[in-house]
Amino acid sequence: MICLGVETSCDETALALVEDGAVLGERLASQEGLHALFGGVVPELASREHLRKGAALYTSLMNSTGIDPSRVGCVAVARGPGLLGSLLVGMNLAKGLALGLGVPLVGVNHLHAHLMAAGLERGLPFPVIGLLISGGHTHLYLIRSPFEFELLGRTLDDAAGEALDKAAKMVNLPYPGGKFIDRLGRGVTPDDTLFPRPYTSNPGLDFSFSGLKTSVARYVADHPHLKLPVLPEGELPHVPGLGLFCASINSAVADTLRIKTRRAIAAHPEARALVVAGGVAANSMIRTVLAGLCAEHGLEAIFPSLSLCTDNAAMIAHLGCLLAGAGYRHGPELDAIPRGRPVPFDYARAAV
Ligand code: KG4
Ligand code: ZN
Repeated sequence: MICLGVETSCDETALALVEDGAVLGERLASQEGLHALFGGVVPELASREHLRKGAALYTSLMNSTGIDPSRVGCVAVARGPGLLGSLLVGMNLAKGLALGLGVPLVGVNHLHAHLMAAGLERGLPFPVIGLLISGGHTHLYLIRSPFEFELLGRTLDDAAGEALDKAAKMVNLPYPGGKFIDRLGRGVTPDDTLFPRPYTSNPGLDFSFSGLKTSVARYVADHPHLKLPVLPEGELPHVPGLGLFCASINSAVADTLRIKTRRAIAAHPEARALVVAGGVAANSMIRTVLAGLCAEHGLEAIFPSLSLCTDNAAMIAHLGCLLAGAGYRHGPELDAIPRGRPVPFDYARAAV
């Protein structure tokens, strides 16, 4: 079955066509440049950009792939969690397309889609431990199938990406700063005494990165020369000590993720692999540290390629395809779920 996926949960407008695990085509319009001017995503501007871009991306996707719309078997849409206004725009587009094409509509949990994205590149040996690390979420799951996610732990405050982005902002690196922390810290030996591994002395699987933020703020106050001129353009100037600062923050985040993930692996010896997903899974140090953890435990480490780590519609279409293929459907009353609320598994089940 060909599934058309729609993703508008944050600041990327994306559409993709996926047929049984193969991406037939995709279109993505990023708003990163627009929001960078404000140092963070401005929700109302994000909604308006989705509205401006969505329908045109559909036309461009269909024209570029040459696929006749009558071959589309279902429309999948990211229903949350995300920015409410942005989700509503994508959901209206998806409902319109499903009605127009006369095919079923499937709402997809954006977080689950991130974790299943690797399935577009290889088979997943369930059960797997899933670590979702993005700008808005840090979740650990035991995943028994594409439809069975057990939440083992989550962040109580900032997400891993948020911690990196806020640290980057403190030294005036461009938004979103996670990739700059990654890039500037690469090849520099971290000083693991500079920053804490927050919330790791308790035995649980939840995360809390706010302690790291406080410690980074204190360090920057004591080392003001680390701050770049506000919103530098083009090449970043060389600042002595900035590489060490970035490598050490990266190491603190990577190590915190390693400690909690190791506990999840120990608690679930039935797991056969670790799947790491979300924008922060693009981070080179985090990939190395988690691959090392898996090697220690004889577990496969699965990281989707970089274009599947950040927000995209192929992952929505892929999980949509699996759900629709198993008979899961939503009606036209499908609602959007904003960040902070659990996404219900509230499908109607059609015979397949
Ligand atoms: O999954 P995503 O594209 O969007 C959502 O939050 O849903 O993740 C965005 C996050 C941002 O915090 C961004 O700074 C971070 O992913 N990120 C990175 C890297 N690339 C993106 N963080 C660390 N290293 C990277 N290379
Ligand atoms: Zn995401």
